[in-house]
Amino acid sequence: MTFGDRVRQLRRGKNIGIKVLAKHCGVNVAYLSRVEAGKVSPSQSLIEKLAHVLHHDQDELSLLAQKLPETWLSWLATDPETAMKGLRRSLEEVSPDDDNGRVSEPISAPVASQVKNPFRLGVQLLTQLSTLHHTEQYEDAYASWATYFKHLEDSTRQRFDLYVALTHLFFDLLATRSEAYAHWVLPQLLPDFWLLFSPVGITTENSFQWSVDLLQDTYTALNQLEDTRAYGKVFTPPAIAAYILKRSGFPGKARANDYLLDPAAGCGVFFMKALDCLAQQSPKNLSHWTTCLVGMEMDPGLCNLARLNIAFWFAQNKVAAPAESLPIFCTDTLSERGLFSGSTQDPGIEVKNLVGRYKEGFRWIVGNPPYGKIHSSDLRVAPFKETVYGHANLYGLFLHFSLTHLEEQRGVLGIITPKSFSSGLYFKELRAYLLKNLRLREIVTFESRTEVFDKADILQETVILLGDKRLKKTAVKVLSPRSYQDLNNHPPANVISLNDLDLGQPYDHILCITSSKEAITISRRVRKRSVTLRDAGFRASTGKFVWNRFKPHLRDAPGKNVLPLYWMHSLKPFKFLPNAVHNRHLAFVELNGVTRPWLNVPEELVITKRISAKEQKRRIEAAHIPASWRADTLGYFLENHLNFIARVKPSPYSLIFVMGVLNSKLLDFVFRVFNGNTQVSATELNVMPLVSDNGRGQNEVERITTALMDVQDEDMPELEEKLNKAVYCLYGIGKKEQAYIENFFKSLGR
Ligand SMILES: C[S@@+](CC[C@H](N)C(=O)[O-])C[C@H]1O[C@@H](n2cnc3c(N)ncnc32)[C@H](O)[C@@H]1O
Repeated sequence: MTFGDRVRQLRRGKNIGIKVLAKHCGVNVAYLSRVEAGKVSPSQSLIEKLAHVLHHDQDELSLLAQKLPETWLSWLATDPETAMKGLRRSLEEVSPDDDNGRVSEPISAPVASQVKNPFRLGVQLLTQLSTLHHTEQYEDAYASWATYFKHLEDSTRQRFDLYVALTHLFFDLLATRSEAYAHWVLPQLLPDFWLLFSPVGITTENSFQWSVDLLQDTYTALNQLEDTRAYGKVFTPPAIAAYILKRSGFPGKARANDYLLDPAAGCGVFFMKALDCLAQQSPKNLSHWTTCLVGMEMDPGLCNLARLNIAFWFAQNKVAAPAESLPIFCTDTLSERGLFSGSTQDPGIEVKNLVGRYKEGFRWIVGNPPYGKIHSSDLRVAPFKETVYGHANLYGLFLHFSLTHLEEQRGVLGIITPKSFSSGLYFKELRAYLLKNLRLREIVTFESRTEVFDKADILQETVILLGDKRLKKTAVKVLSPRSYQDLNNHPPANVISLNDLDLGQPYDHILCITSSKEAITISRRVRKRSVTLRDAGFRASTGKFVWNRFKPHLRDAPGKNVLPLYWMHSLKPFKFLPNAVHNRHLAFVELNGVTRPWLNVPEELVITKRISAKEQKRRIEAAHIPASWRADTLGYFLENHLNFIARVKPSPYSLIFVMGVLNSKLLDFVFRVFNGNTQVSATELNVMPLVSDNGRGQNEVERITTALMDVQDEDMPELEEKLNKAVYCLYGIGKKEQAYIENFFKSLGR
């Protein structure tokens, strides 16, 4: 054996990476690596340091480096025969064939390639420790692993995976041995771990929710924010998962081989709640059932967490864990190479034989699909192109996927999802597909945007969709609790017919998701008498100028060939503010070959803000740019956070009238009935209803709107009230309905 081989063997035996060893010896990695490869001979000082760090006999190392230690030199000089015998014995000791009862290779160090998959190391550790339990090698084994853990690179993912593995070990021991034993082992393996995970004494009684919460939070904290955003890693509160399962009729009178799938399983909250249901309803068949809970999740750390949480569940409930490994597949659900073609990224799981199991589809598909953009050129989008219109979003693809894999007739879907699909243009094909392929039974629309996922900063509105594959259409139960805490104590659900919910094909199947019958009646009345803005000869579009794509062309002052740029702050309801300044936004753009395609030529327009939230007093804020407005004869730029409405055909309505009704309470209310996000998109503006009474009422609205454009701020409320009344009258809204709308806005302070 060479010096380099021996150092490598010792290092791996102690589970120390080469980088860490180099650091401890104060040399650079490249040098140490050349020493290990036998390309350079080590200095005396490196030999001393290596012996010190690796706790190994310095003399032996010196001999291998073909340097006779001082002690040996003097021994050879005084007693050559004994010294030679000793020398021979020393060399035999380092022979690879004879480890003299030291920690043998399978127990000791992981090899470098395995470091990439720390969970496997964790599993290896579990396996080894459990087989070695009560043997003499046990101590050596965990001492060896403990060293490895300590020297592990401080990469968050690896660390997390280790925590997962170690916690798994803890609960394994808790379930199979004693609590005291479990407490004893882990702190010795990794003291940091315990400090982090066990601020108070953990017992079987309090451990379950504590561990689930803590691990989930730790994961979220350690995970990169971009990753959390891109893959929609937001976890469902257990109360919501429990509600979805209950309303999906899980497990009911299930047959053998009724499978439940969570296609984006995260850390398995739906499984734990499913186990709760099973323990109550079918405790004898628990272990059969666990093989029917199927998960797909692309993040290996989360897969581990899901498996771990299920192990927690068994430990907590003192139920023997199933022998078969749980079908939680580490796989990309959307990929053709995913589970259904028989492959997974998870090296430990052979799925080829399993795929046939699910060919009839899943009896239940539940979950919280990820929200995030996915580029249309991504190959994973292709199988779902039937439901993609323009930009795709992961959650739309997951909905399509779920409908495809739901069992015919008996299949039940229970999904918590953003509400934006209800009106967004990009989801128009998905809406049509959903209405055709799912019988919607219940929709929960949460009143609060911020209190649904209490641990995440979510701005979306959220809904729960529950439906099945039966053919006969029924009315839909719609309920609107404030947050998940009110799920079992919410205002009564209303039963709303699908025809009222779905605005139909001319409106791209926009869905009015509200539990308020009054809102549905008002919205229906308004639409019955109206034409859409689009059919009335107008076209709403999105502001063309995306400022951050043109940073070099922005200017802070006007000049030759420099034109104004209008932003959201360039308007207030009824008022166009071309000179409004904003300390962060530059107000001018150089007109040149690059910017010219994004120029708006001067013409009469209505502009509206594109972003507003349901809590705001107004969702739609519109102002009018007269045709006479010539900031420059050439035109101006409209920033992308604005929409603009132009006349494209002769129309019986003026743009002043359009601005007036858009700013009214009535149309704001109608807009809220179907909009489910923070955007006021051009598509939605295009389907806003315009009504005519052949003159009088219309002229009145126009007259008051014109007055509002010039009036002082303090006189606006009075005039606006007149406008609102005129609009109610024009659209045929009775006193009772007016009172309902007025009360609604009063609650918002408008
Ligand atoms: C919103 S989380 C829901 C997690 C869990 N079901 C829950 O409710 O707490 C979505 C999960 O989908 C996973 N995910 C994202 N894209 C995926 C894909 N293409 N295939 C499989 N899982 C994916 C994310 O890693 C994340 O854990």
